Amino acid sequence: MLNTQTWEHFQIHPEEAQALDRDCTTLSRHVLQQLNSFSPDAQDISALMSRIALAGKLIARRLTRAGLLEDALGFTGTVNVQGESVKKMDIYSNDVFISVFKQSGLVCRLASEEMEKPYYIPENCPVGRYTLLYDPLDGSSNLDTNLNVGSIFSIRQQEGNDEDESAQDLLQNGRKQIGAGYILYGPSTMLVYSIGTGVHAFTLDPSLGEFIQANENIKIPEHGPIYSVNEGNFWQWDESMRDYIRYVHRHEGYTARYGGALVGDLHRILYQGGVFLYPGTVKKPEGKLRLLYESAPMAYLIEQAGGRASTGTEEILDVVAEKLHQRTPLIIGSKEDVALVESFIKEQKRISQV
Ligand code: AHG
Ligand code: MN
Ligand code: MN
Repeated sequence: MLNTQTWEHFQIHPEEAQALDRDCTTLSRHVLQQLNSFSPDAQDISALMSRIALAGKLIARRLTRAGLLEDALGFTGTVNVQGESVKKMDIYSNDVFISVFKQSGLVCRLASEEMEKPYYIPENCPVGRYTLLYDPLDGSSNLDTNLNVGSIFSIRQQEGNDEDESAQDLLQNGRKQIGAGYILYGPSTMLVYSIGTGVHAFTLDPSLGEFIQANENIKIPEHGPIYSVNEGNFWQWDESMRDYIRYVHRHEGYTARYGGALVGDLHRILYQGGVFLYPGTVKKPEGKLRLLYESAPMAYLIEQAGGRASTGTEEILDVVAEKLHQRTPLIIGSKEDVALVESFIKEQKRISQV
C-alpha cells in the first residue's frame, strides 16, 4: 500500500505518481543514486553509462530497420582479428561506440572485439581516464534471421601512462573492472549493468528515448533448470563435458535453451537460473569466447547477482589476460549449476590420476 505522506505533494492518483516517479528513474540518475554521490568521479561514471546507453539506442535503431535498408545486413567480405567473417552490423556497431565516445572526454582508449589494437582517442579530442572494452555486436550469426543480439561492455580505469600504446595495463584480472554490463536487442531493448552495487536492468522506452528502470538488485537463483550449450560440439569436448551432458540428459528437471548469442542466453539464466557453457575443445582448449570483453564483464555481472563464472578450473575474474583477444572456456550462471559442471571436471581429473 502506498504511504500517502510521500505522495501528498502530487495532485494525481498515488499509483500514477509512482509510475511517473519510476519513469523519471533514468539510467544516469540511477547511477548517481547507486554511487550515492555527485562527485566528479560519480558524474563521470554516470556520463559513461549515458554514452553506452546512447550507443545502445543508435544500434537498436539500426537493427529495427536493418531489414529495410539496402546495405545494413550481410558480410563485409573481410575477416577480423578473431579470424571470423565480419558482418556489416559488426562494423556499424563498432563505429557507433567510437563516435559516441570520441568527443566524450571520458575515455582514453576503446578496445573492441572488432579491432586488433585499441583505438586511442586522437590528440584533438578530450581524453579521459577510463577504457571501454566491448563486443559491439554479440551473436552476429543471429542477425540475418532477425534473432536477438547484444552488446557487451566492460569499464576499466587506465593505470600508468601507456606511452607505447601497448595497453599492457588492460592485461589484468577481471576484479579490476569498475563496471560492466550488456545491452540486449530483443523484443524490447534492455540495458543491464553493475558498478559493484548489484545488478540493475533498464528497458528502453522508444517514445521517451530513455532507458527506464525495470528491475533493481537482480539476484540469480541458486539453481535453475536451464543448461545452455551448443551440443553440436559434443564430439569435440573433453570427456568431463560429455559426462555432464549425459547427466542432464538422464535426470529430470533440465531444459536446453541455446540461442547462439551469449547475451540472450545469459539474460535468460540471470532471471530463471541455470548454466551457460562454452567449453574448450580438444583442438581449442581455450574455447571461443573472449575474456576481456565477453567472459569477464559477464562474470562481473553474474557474481554481482550472486552467481559464479569459471573456466572449469579457475574463477573467470581471477584469470589474468596475456593478450587483448585472449579466449577462455566459460561456465557461468547459478552457483549450484556451475559447481555441478565443475564436479565432472574434478572427477575426470581424479580418474586420470589414478
Ligand atoms: P560474436 O557474435 O560476438 O562473435 O559472439 C558470438 C559468440 C556468443 O555470443 C555465442 O554464445 C557463441 O559465439 C555462439 O557460438 P557457436 O555458434 O559456435 O555456438
Ligand atoms: Mn560476442
Ligand atoms: Mn561480436
